Amino acid sequence: MPKQRRTAKRNPVNFKHESVFEGRVRDLTSDGRGVVSHPDGRTFFVPGIWLNEVAEIRVVGRQGKVGLGQVVTLKQADPQRRLASCSHHGYDTDHCGGCPWMFMSYEAQSSAKLRRLDSALAGLGSHLVQADELLAAPEELGYRNRAQLKTDGARLGYLAAGTRTLVDIAACPILSVRNAEMLTALRAELPNSAWRVRGQQWQTIDIDDSLNTPSMRKRLSFRQGNSRQNTVMRDWLARVIAPIPEDASVLELFAGSGNFTEILAAHFRTVVAVEGDDKALRHLSEIAPDRIQAHALNLFSEPAVERWISQISDARVLVLDPPREGLKVRAPFLRAMTELETVIYVACDIATWARDCRDFMAEGFSLARVTPLDMFPQTPHLEVLSVLSRG
Ligand SMILES: C[S@@+](CC[C@H](N)C(=O)[O-])C[C@H]1O[C@@H](n2cnc3c(N)ncnc32)[C@H](O)[C@@H]1O
Repeated sequence: MPKQRRTAKRNPVNFKHESVFEGRVRDLTSDGRGVVSHPDGRTFFVPGIWLNEVAEIRVVGRQGKVGLGQVVTLKQADPQRRLASCSHHGYDTDHCGGCPWMFMSYEAQSSAKLRRLDSALAGLGSHLVQADELLAAPEELGYRNRAQLKTDGARLGYLAAGTRTLVDIAACPILSVRNAEMLTALRAELPNSAWRVRGQQWQTIDIDDSLNTPSMRKRLSFRQGNSRQNTVMRDWLARVIAPIPEDASVLELFAGSGNFTEILAAHFRTVVAVEGDDKALRHLSEIAPDRIQAHALNLFSEPAVERWISQISDARVLVLDPPREGLKVRAPFLRAMTELETVIYVACDIATWARDCRDFMAEGFSLARVTPLDMFPQTPHLEVLSVLSRG
């Protein structure tokens, strides 16, 4: 009884399942859902609906203070809405939520991505820099060079968005040709009792079009998920570093297997490259051993960064490509790197990128260049390639 009372106090707002209301989408969340106000003022997140569209929405749950809704009837559709080109597309537990924006034209998706970036730039007070044109993806489909499949021995596919429910996937149009063939070949082995793992709902199978066989139970090191757009990013980086003297000392954080380190080492005489994944580090060390000093470090551990930072405090160029968390531990870098002139920041998360830029700007840096790149069409993801300069 006391427990019930505590719960009621924490969750004072009533989210009555199955009630329906009409609302207009006023914004889109970072994971692509529509933001809709209930007539009584509560905010709801609703998948499969676009900015300014109006729909009848069923209340299906809550996420903290926000309600979760499902479209019942679309009352006013955006003219750029289209039929998704995948039979598995959808938002319930029978569908794959991997391409949440597939129901909109590529132009509409691109505009929404740029709108988020513009709003982040406005938040930074960065009216002096305007983002470059979007480096749009040359392929809307068939671009994905790797994927993580799940199997329980009877089904093979992906998890439904936000759940642990396995959805059987017959074909996936965003996979590269080689990966689509691998999916078909794996499916031909179903049912497969050897893929069942005792005590687990399913197990993971990684497919990657640079590997001959799927990888089971072994995590692969990071690889940029769209090969053609990765080439565009590497070319962008080569252009950006070209005017910097080749004897400048360079520090690269989150270097992975050396995708960008290779470009840096082709220009700069010495590059100190830091990475946390041992397997990636081994690969990184082999690229150009005479120019690259590869270093293992957990960049999210403040004590570890503090202990190491004095070794690189003379760096003039910092290149970083962090995971979604961004440069979580940044105070030691901001404090110790007094010689730093240029920061080249490749970001996969606009919010953490903006947070980190704000801190660099407080140290006298300003945004010199911002180039958006579309790595994953059909999703809200946007890669931001940026340069900050001091002085
Ligand atoms: C977005 S990837 C970039 C990799 C590389 N720049 C590339 O283009 O392939 C981020 C990298 O950060 C590494 N990483 C993630 N968390 C880390 C941490 N706490 N410390 C060090 N490295 C980390 C990952 O292993 C991954 O290689």
